[in-house]
Amino acid sequence: MAEKSGRVFSGARPTGRQHLGNYLGAIKNYVALQEQYEECVYCIVDIHALTTVETTQNLRHNTREMALDWLAAGMDPQRSIIFVQSHVPQVVELHTFLSMVTPMGKLTDLPTFKERVRQQPHNVNYGLLGYPVLMAADITLYKAVAVPVGVDQAPHIEFTRELVRSFNYRYDTDVLIEPQMVVTEFPKVIGIDGQNKMSKSLDNHIEISATPGETTERVMQMVTDPARVRRSDPGNPDVCNVYSLHKVFSSQEEVDMVNMECRRAGIGCVDCKKLLAKNINEYFAPLRARRAEFSSKDGYVNDILHEGAARARKIAEGTIAEVKEAIGLPE
Ligand code: TRP
Repeated sequence: MAEKSGRVFSGARPTGRQHLGNYLGAIKNYVALQEQYEECVYCIVDIHALTTVETTQNLRHNTREMALDWLAAGMDPQRSIIFVQSHVPQVVELHTFLSMVTPMGKLTDLPTFKERVRQQPHNVNYGLLGYPVLMAADITLYKAVAVPVGVDQAPHIEFTRELVRSFNYRYDTDVLIEPQMVVTEFPKVIGIDGQNKMSKSLDNHIEISATPGETTERVMQMVTDPARVRRSDPGNPDVCNVYSLHKVFSSQEEVDMVNMECRRAGIGCVDCKKLLAKNINEYFAPLRARRAEFSSKDGYVNDILHEGAARARKIAEGTIAEVKEAIGLPE
């Protein structure tokens, strides 16, 4: 692939140990983009987490667990900047400057905001309203040209682009860069309930760093084709989430075999799931080994995150100086 120039930025809230949905929908892509862009900046957005999380009890633990999964998956701190949002406070400064070109109505109109208001009517705070402004600050502080996110984040990227145009127009400058959205093309990963998007809060997830035993246990709980009640009933792989995951984790021969044998009741769900569990475990074995190694090294994760923050801060300081100059703030 041709070398692309420019910087990538993406962020994710510190949700702790990552699951198959996080891995297939985001992390895998983060790793791949390291080959395709000049520099990738990957941020654990702990400040964003405060907009929805009322207790911060697990914030440190979850940050570490997520960072371990990221690193073990091949997000490479040599090539990429991997850091924690609150370690680079310039983002809060830029957030405030951007808020002055943010029309209130745009924020209250965003579907993501409306959804949150429905989800947490008791906690509709000012920070929650400003969530997309902080996200725009993340992206523009690092002058990112590309932002890999899921489609649910499309309104936020479009909003960021509008803010950039407003800011640059108001202050007659070009310091802020309009980012492009890089859609993660992976279809949404369904949880073991066979129904909802895989998510930790629904407890329908499979952690990538689970032990082989835990993984097998979760896979055995997966809901399959509901029409296949008895072992002798033929199944329909097209409506079975086990089959969807086979397509990701199993060899083409195995996928073909499952597809054929399920339809004629040649293979039962138990054996089909055992095969899937085995393949998931094989797939993640190297990642899990690296994770165990990183986790056992005292201070390893913290050192990486702090080095990442130092590199991020350099870029951030440069942008903030340009922004203040563009606005015309006193020297
Ligand atoms: N809003 C994103 C999410 O919920 C997380 C995020 C914060 C982000 N800042 C970002 C994503 C900047 C991309 C770029 O998933």
